[in-house]
Amino acid sequence: MTSQIRYDNNSLYIEGLPATALAEKYGTPLYVYSANQAADNYRLLRDSFDIIDGIRFLYALKANSNPEILKLISALGAGADTVSAGEIFLALRSGFAPESISLAGVGKTDDDLDFALTRNIGTIIAESDEELQVISQRASKIGRTAHVSLRINPDVDARTHPHISTGLKDNKFGINIDRALDSAKVAANLKNVEFAGIHSHIGSQITEVEPFAEAVRSIAEFVDKLGKEGIRVSQIDLGGGIGVRYKNALTHDLIPVENNSEHPIDLRSLSQVIKNGFSSLDCELVMEPGRFVIAESGVLLTRVLYRKESSGRKFVIVDAGMNDMMRHALYSAYHQIAPVELSVGKSVMVDVVGPVCESTDVFAVQREMPEVKRGDLLAILTTGAYGYSLSSNYNSRLKPAEVLVDEDYARVIRDRDTMEDLV
Ligand SMILES: Cc1ncc(COP(=O)(O)O)c(C=O)c1O
Repeated sequence: MTSQIRYDNNSLYIEGLPATALAEKYGTPLYVYSANQAADNYRLLRDSFDIIDGIRFLYALKANSNPEILKLISALGAGADTVSAGEIFLALRSGFAPESISLAGVGKTDDDLDFALTRNIGTIIAESDEELQVISQRASKIGRTAHVSLRINPDVDARTHPHISTGLKDNKFGINIDRALDSAKVAANLKNVEFAGIHSHIGSQITEVEPFAEAVRSIAEFVDKLGKEGIRVSQIDLGGGIGVRYKNALTHDLIPVENNSEHPIDLRSLSQVIKNGFSSLDCELVMEPGRFVIAESGVLLTRVLYRKESSGRKFVIVDAGMNDMMRHALYSAYHQIAPVELSVGKSVMVDVVGPVCESTDVFAVQREMPEVKRGDLLAILTTGAYGYSLSSNYNSRLKPAEVLVDEDYARVIRDRDTMEDLV
């Protein structure tokens, strides 16, 4: 797959447009997305899983819920994985069919549930016994039938960062697999509830097949157990979590090669493991990718404000902050950072930091980079997922604009905040 974000000679391009021109026209910090990169990634996923008949992909809105991005992804044929009434609203408004939408989340409010029920969304994923009862009560009150899947916690180590690991028994998510049979029996007999199936999401940014294989084995065993109890499972949802590469997104003779311990997940092996694991079950399969679809399509452009040195440590202070992109502040996530315009020069070891009044407002620590100066543009790569969607107005900073590029055409898909937005 060729990358839509790359250097052409010594200048960074997003599809057919130079990043420098985009930054000059729309200002910085600026999120820029490549429409074709998102489409390529979605198609790569779909094609890699084409050995599984009828598998459906529900795009996880939490990764990036810009309505124009959502329209693009719904047009590719995806369904939507949501976690709030707000996300259901956005999904419906962006062209996702109600029956293709699922609602997950460990703490859904009555309003979330009522919104989902009145919009006839496809599946509500219950995460506790108490929630099952509430879903039944709300559905009865409104006079609808809730199609409910049970999120089980298979106690699998996703071997990812602890903060994005969700499938261990001491995580807050889902119902422990050892107790889930009782919950399923309850779900199968609740008023105004149709038991749809089993859901599991073990974590995010998973780069090995084995954790998925373990989850598949646990779920298959569990579904078998349910069958023996006369409970039929029509759908298995394996959640999201397919990892992407964060290092060496850009390569060029004038930027350092990043020390690469990342092993990209082999999608073909993953699809084979899932197919084999569930081959004896007559169930529809669903996955909920977020990051894989949109991470690589996004780049955050930021301008160097200042450089300074303290106790021998060099800092590059940029105009983007943790309020714009908090993945590093939140879980030390790695993102490649590269100059938008390259020239021959020396490399230096720097910390790239933002202007926010927090010591965690950092994008890179002791990173070897080409030397930059005030006014230079930098690109923070692979920021399409969990970038803007995690942004805030902390320090009363204005949230950045978002621009979508499709070949030679760019358009603003979210305006930069104005001062009035702070009030
Ligand atoms: C239930 C559920 N599904 C899907 C996703 C999407 O995960 P990813 O973006 O890693 O594919 C998440 C992420 O937290 C999730 O919690």
